[in-house]
Amino acid sequence: MLTKIIAHRGASKRAPENTLPAFELAYDLGADGIETDVQLTKDQIPVLIHDEGLKRTTNGYGFVKDYTLNELKQLDAGSWFSPFYANTRLLSLKEFLIWAKDKPLYLNIELKNNKIDYKNLEKIVYKLLKEFELLNRTTLSTFNPKSIKRMSKLDKQIDAAFLTSKRRNDLVEYAQSLGAKAIHIKYRLLSRKLVDHCRKEEMAIRVYTVNKTTQIKRCINLNCNGIFTDVPGKAHQIKIQE
Ligand code: G3P
Ligand code: MG
Repeated sequence: MLTKIIAHRGASKRAPENTLPAFELAYDLGADGIETDVQLTKDQIPVLIHDEGLKRTTNGYGFVKDYTLNELKQLDAGSWFSPFYANTRLLSLKEFLIWAKDKPLYLNIELKNNKIDYKNLEKIVYKLLKEFELLNRTTLSTFNPKSIKRMSKLDKQIDAAFLTSKRRNDLVEYAQSLGAKAIHIKYRLLSRKLVDHCRKEEMAIRVYTVNKTTQIKRCINLNCNGIFTDVPGKAHQIKIQE
């Protein structure tokens, strides 16, 4: 099995995270997939942005949940990264799916509902993926265990992944009990034992955020299902040489 190189928030080392330029670049650099983060607007539209707040990655302030998509579309989501990307706009999930639909990319949509547990976020995202017929190549992940349960209740077939940075001995069993089909773990939790355990239980294992050469090689050699990386071009080169 080949480890998928998944661009973390797009090619986020070289372009503003979670924006079209970052996704385009990741695709051009040979990424196998794209990871992106979803929050919900005031008018219940999933939008791609990592933080609950607007301050770090836009020229706005306050919370995503307090603005409509139209209002958020007025913001500059590129200048904070570099003047070259001035006036880059936030993308709705729907716009992202339109872009991804005709490309052979694996998708990982991370529901950012561990701090604000947005009502119906799972249903809204699921409906959109169904409409676009993209469920067969998309993983929905979250740090929120309750959200994993809600997803598997919605549709047992959903490829739900439990995200965690916390060590626990029963991690695989715990993720299974929630209804998850995969675990997405922080790099420091990675071990051969855990990979073997996942294999035995037919649970996929993907690792974040893997940018260093030695770490990328280790994940590939351990046969992890995927790595989330800010440097998909570099990881792709390493993968084709290994
Ligand atoms: O999905 C992997 C990774 O993105 C989880 O952490 O904070 O970068 O969204 P974060
Ligand atoms: Mg993420």
